[in-house]
Amino acid sequence: MSTTPDAAAVRAALADFTDPETGRPLAEMDQLRSIDCGPDSIAVTVGLTTHSAILWSQTRGRIEESLRSRFPQVPSVSVTIVPHDRPPVKLGQIGIEAKCVIAVGSGKGGVGKSTIATSIAIGLARAGSRVGLLDADVYGPSVPHLVGLTGRPAIDQGKIVPMMHAPGGAATQPMPVMSMGFMVPPGEAVVWRGPMLHGAITQMLRDTLWGPLDYLIIDMPPGTGDIALTLSQALPLTGAVVVCTPQDVALLDATKAIAMFRKVNIPVLGMVENMSFFVCPDTQKRYDIFGTGGAKRTAKDLEIPFLGEVPIQIPIREHGDAGKTSANFDDPAARPYLEAICTRLVGNLAAAHASRPPMPSLPVL
Ligand SMILES: Nc1ncnc2c1ncn2[C@@H]1O[C@H](COP(=O)(O)OP(=O)(O)O)[C@@H](O)[C@H]1O
Ligand SMILES: [Mg+2]
Repeated sequence: MSTTPDAAAVRAALADFTDPETGRPLAEMDQLRSIDCGPDSIAVTVGLTTHSAILWSQTRGRIEESLRSRFPQVPSVSVTIVPHDRPPVKLGQIGIEAKCVIAVGSGKGGVGKSTIATSIAIGLARAGSRVGLLDADVYGPSVPHLVGLTGRPAIDQGKIVPMMHAPGGAATQPMPVMSMGFMVPPGEAVVWRGPMLHGAITQMLRDTLWGPLDYLIIDMPPGTGDIALTLSQALPLTGAVVVCTPQDVALLDATKAIAMFRKVNIPVLGMVENMSFFVCPDTQKRYDIFGTGGAKRTAKDLEIPFLGEVPIQIPIREHGDAGKTSANFDDPAARPYLEAICTRLVGNLAAAHASRPPMPSLPVL
């Protein structure tokens, strides 16, 4: 009796593997590109989209592991991931081509919301996803500063040409960034009335040449529900990430922010705890400056995913001030925390899709 598995057996062994972007079986979506079987080896090529770029290596590992345990008699199992093209559809009336729109909010300012929003965008882009970053914090736009961009965007046939940031890593293209900070001279106070605010945000969304995106990450202004409402009316948001610090007052504000997102029907994708602790570089002693673990408990109480914690690290502040937030990903002390947040975020979206696959003809939300 031959022990060489055939392609059909390999395909059957992978029947339960779903595409992280759509939640549909890889085999059904033409994503099992090739299966080569011999007595000593199984080689499988799988097509995955840039939307799940941050999950590619983990997905490859899981498929290999599953084939190894299913076919223990075959000494060599290898899985190769290749890009699978699936363009985004236009969202809502606003016409942005994006697969996911994720708002990053907080109950109050100064908790590191812009740092986390920018890091999520950079982390996903560095993994190979197509990402845009919109700074909707019109009161205190700090994204230009965090990514070291200055100047005024050009206008091309009535559309705004976003400023471009090179995120580094495995990013294949620069990341479009748009912020009111590019439109208003630095240091100048802007007094916004409600309708103007609404108009400014919708214009930055609608009139920017974003190009096709896997993710549009939006840095929200702290607190108020107006912008969340504006956004939720303008386009279907995938959901919101809430950033907070560990102390009780901040958690109270975060709880309010979560209630606000829920009120305008924006799903809460998870909570990030920033400034969770400080490890003294001289003594390696850990200090819980604002307390610790509060966000994790709050997330559990409110039944929302906890996406991870980020310690206070002096280089994170220095990189931010130097306009080099992406350097956090070259720093072995900061990178694991930030990458874990990005991976959990996309992993949770994948898990949600796997349990409830979106219809193939509809935008993947
Ligand atoms: N984990 C961290 N470690 C060190 N400094 C941080 C950290 N997170 C944020 N910061 C710094 O704190 C300040 C406020 O962060 P920012 O992201 O602008 O907050 P927010 O958008 O909530 O107002 C910035 O100077 C930033 O560099
Ligand atoms: Mg900010």
